[in-house]
Amino acid sequence: MVRLRDLMMPLWAEFAYELVFAEPCPREARDLIAANADDVVTSLKCTGLRHMDRRDRLTRYLLPRLDKVRVPLPDGLTPLEQAYYLQGAFFNTAVVQLSEGMAHLLLVLARHPEEQERARTSDDRHFDRVINETLRLYPLFGIAHRITSGDIALDEHTTIPAGSVLCFNYPEFHRAGFADPDRFDPGRFDRPAKELNHIPFGVAANRPCPAWRLAPIVMRVVAREVLDRYVLDSSVSHTRSLPSRGPCLLTPRGAPHRPRLALAYMRVRDRWEDVWRSLVQLVLGTYMVWDAHRLRLCERHFAEAAARDPAEERHPAEEGDPAETEAPTAAEAPDRTTDAPDRATDAPDRTTDAPDASDAFDAENRYAHHGRHPGSRRTR
Ligand code: HEM
Repeated sequence: MVRLRDLMMPLWAEFAYELVFAEPCPREARDLIAANADDVVTSLKCTGLRHMDRRDRLTRYLLPRLDKVRVPLPDGLTPLEQAYYLQGAFFNTAVVQLSEGMAHLLLVLARHPEEQERARTSDDRHFDRVINETLRLYPLFGIAHRITSGDIALDEHTTIPAGSVLCFNYPEFHRAGFADPDRFDPGRFDRPAKELNHIPFGVAANRPCPAWRLAPIVMRVVAREVLDRYVLDSSVSHTRSLPSRGPCLLTPRGAPHRPRLALAYMRVRDRWEDVWRSLVQLVLGTYMVWDAHRLRLCERHFAEAAARDPAEERHPAEEGDPAETEAPTAAEAPDRTTDAPDRATDAPDRTTDAPDASDAFDAENRYAHHGRHPGSRRTR
């Protein structure tokens, strides 16, 4: 009996390490990466407190190894910023997102035995439909936001002024336009995904996920390895935030498969855990929101940026910068992944690290884009 997210974290930690350093991942590195990634996502879901010492240990491990990274790191960063950059993009975002994505994929197959068998014996085209449908039902991002850099006229009476925070609800978008949207049905993707309301990796034209080609491929390969070795069963409730980390029973293929008792136990334990976990989430979530309001991170960020360099706060068009793609900071990026409470303007985080998986990248990487001062994620 395993928790799928926990099962997956060390695996993706090794994957990220090998991607970055092109050498086998030492156990020490794997444990440091997994401990930090787990800490980030646990605190994000308000099921536990954040331990910044875990992040600092990983940073200290990376600092003397920067010259071993197989591609040049962004110019203009100090060594500490380079370590944060690696840590944010690869050892945090990649590990958290792939672990969460895989936990959803394996859990949905555990809960749908007939789909599990079909996926195991199917070709890659069908498997990709299964992944598409999983990410439609359980998108890893809740609310994403952009800050408008110019006025947007909706019609002759309505204009969205520059500087507005626009929020986009991924789960709602993924439900719209589908019959019986809560049902798991890979057959929906017999049609090309681009004809459907389906953007689990973001909007292609506006800062999508840089791993959107890589992620489904590696998820498929790993899922096949698991399905070849084990039969998966689960009786727990499957929600988008998955605070239970995906309890699942793995029976080695070929061994006697009699999961009834174990599933009954799992169901009772899951309901019981739901009760105390909800209480913990209520307390920690309330504190998080209160703290965010108290710190007023977003407001302070803009005020400080304007005070340092008024040109930064000018309209990008005035600067002749059509790209308008500055990295957002933690303070501006309230919820762009698994299950942080959706807040439009205040991020809960009180440090330079960010509150959620991909936001951690933004916070730690905020100096990397074009070597300029962190600005806002602007859009028109
Ligand atoms: C199943 C896996 C993944 C999913 C579903 C996913 C989803 C997303 C989405 C929806 C966004 C855009 C959010 C927005 O609209 O603001 C995003 C951004 C991002 N993702 Fe992923 N992601 C995944 C895996 C990864 C991996 C493996 C990496 C790193 C290797 C990664 C790195 C990033 C980064 C750096 C950004 C920020 C891009 C920017 O702001 O320009 N993601 N991801």
